Amino acid sequence: MLKWWQRTIVYEAYPSSFMDTNGDGLGDLQGLISKLGYLQSLGVGAIWLTPIYKSPMGDNGYDVADYYAINPLYGTMADMDQLLAAAKRHGIKIVMDLVVNHTSSECPWFQASSSGKDNDYSDWYIWRDGAEGGPPNNWGSIFGGSAWTWSEQRQQYYLHTFAPFQPDLNWENPKVRQAIYAVAQFWLAKGVGGFRIDAVPYIKKPQDYANGPVNPATGFAPIHNATANTEGILDFLHEFKQEVQGDRDIFTVGEANGVAAQQLPLWVGKDGVFDMIFEFSHLDVKFADGELWYKTKAWRLTELKQTIAASQANTSSNGWYPIFLENHDQPRSINSFLPEEADPILGAKALGMLLLTLRGTPFIYQGQELGMTNVDWTSIDCFNDLSTKNQYQLALDNGLTTTQAMKVMQKYSRDNARTPMQWSAQPNAGFTMGKPWLAVNANYKSVNAELEAEDKDSVLNWYRKLYSLRQEYEVLIEGDYKELLADSEEIFVYSRSTSTAKATVLINFTENTVSYPAELVEGTDPVLSNYENVQKGVLRPFEAVLYIALIK
Ligand code: NOJ
Ligand code: CA
Repeated sequence: MLKWWQRTIVYEAYPSSFMDTNGDGLGDLQGLISKLGYLQSLGVGAIWLTPIYKSPMGDNGYDVADYYAINPLYGTMADMDQLLAAAKRHGIKIVMDLVVNHTSSECPWFQASSSGKDNDYSDWYIWRDGAEGGPPNNWGSIFGGSAWTWSEQRQQYYLHTFAPFQPDLNWENPKVRQAIYAVAQFWLAKGVGGFRIDAVPYIKKPQDYANGPVNPATGFAPIHNATANTEGILDFLHEFKQEVQGDRDIFTVGEANGVAAQQLPLWVGKDGVFDMIFEFSHLDVKFADGELWYKTKAWRLTELKQTIAASQANTSSNGWYPIFLENHDQPRSINSFLPEEADPILGAKALGMLLLTLRGTPFIYQGQELGMTNVDWTSIDCFNDLSTKNQYQLALDNGLTTTQAMKVMQKYSRDNARTPMQWSAQPNAGFTMGKPWLAVNANYKSVNAELEAEDKDSVLNWYRKLYSLRQEYEVLIEGDYKELLADSEEIFVYSRSTSTAKATVLINFTENTVSYPAELVEGTDPVLSNYENVQKGVLRPFEAVLYIALIK
């Protein structure tokens, strides 16, 4: 028996850019409330809300100052209670983002911890003396520079996997773990439907804090290589599971960059620690060095297919897979997975077909259902994201020209996904009456929800059709996954089967017309295609077709 969250569609909302109702240029909780009907019409059963806690917003909410308070930029606790109640009426659960690896440096826990070595919070973060006049070791943080920052007040260094204002919590301390579980309990009592757990592979550190091999391009040993998925982490997470989830009817999804598909059985399912984890192998195929956006490589479709097949295989009988092609840290999928020549509407539909027909729970990132694309900004000053600024500098330091570096940012900046949601052709895409905190993508007059709602061939209505097909054909939810034509560098083909039905999905990732053995779909009918007049055995550029046959 599948659980509710295995049958539904999850929508990731990035509140800053979703809908602004008070004209300050930043999205808010009332904005979310005003769009619940829209989300319901997409078949969304849960919204993963990126952090809305009180925060100085150095990393747009992933620097939490108070886990028990709502960021006043987004509204009040009364608004949050209203959102939970209104969402419930729409059949939608709210899933909170638990940022557990680190807090903001403005969190009172850190302020107490940095004030001295013998108070109740002294041991809540990771403090070390320096070595040889510098930081304790050579680790470099994910957002650039040393992973250690000196505290004048405490006369020691503290560790931060991300920015200096995001000090890492000390999970070795049971009081820290209890504090995190208490936060989760508070939100559970409010009726949330689950948690997305941020940056979870970093919570455990190897206790020798040894130097690592330096990446010459940054001058540091990447902290990711030193700490991600350190042995012993699962002990912490089993405790988390027991304390937070128990037998509640919620779901947990961990953000687990650094956990390989082959390790999935330890992380999800019966003996695992979460219901699902986001692993990143399908996004990493394009990078030659995960630390450096400018070091990309040409990738082949078979590489992408192999990563997806591995995740499908490792969750086929135990655990479950969260399907995602976009999130608030990734560029838009059309620009990531398809060649530049791709028609954006055909392309968005092709990728939408993949997202909603693989086996697992699809996570739609806001605007993906409209076919939103990357930005073409030409100055670094247009960007807000701190990691974009760091990557731009790294590209320049390593010899790229400003024009070349800008091209890299246009392709990989996290701000590509963070531009305001495109609701209509009104000024600022109908997102705000004021000045948006981040510029709207220039294409909003043709790519927007209002226009697409009226157009039966729009990307938005394609997503709605895929949702209703998932309702109609159980095979799309429960069916086993089997990859077909695995060696093709041009088309992605797979079937989904139960004892009573078989679905076959065919997606052309190229601008060429590609043929395939028509026997694959013999005796079955196309139920959805992004072209008219589907012909068996041939796929036109970026064509995506879903065939379904009922077995009598
Ligand atoms: C992953 C989040 O998705 C990202 O936005 C954030 O910057 C880091 N974790 C640090 O919390
Ligand atoms: Ca606002």
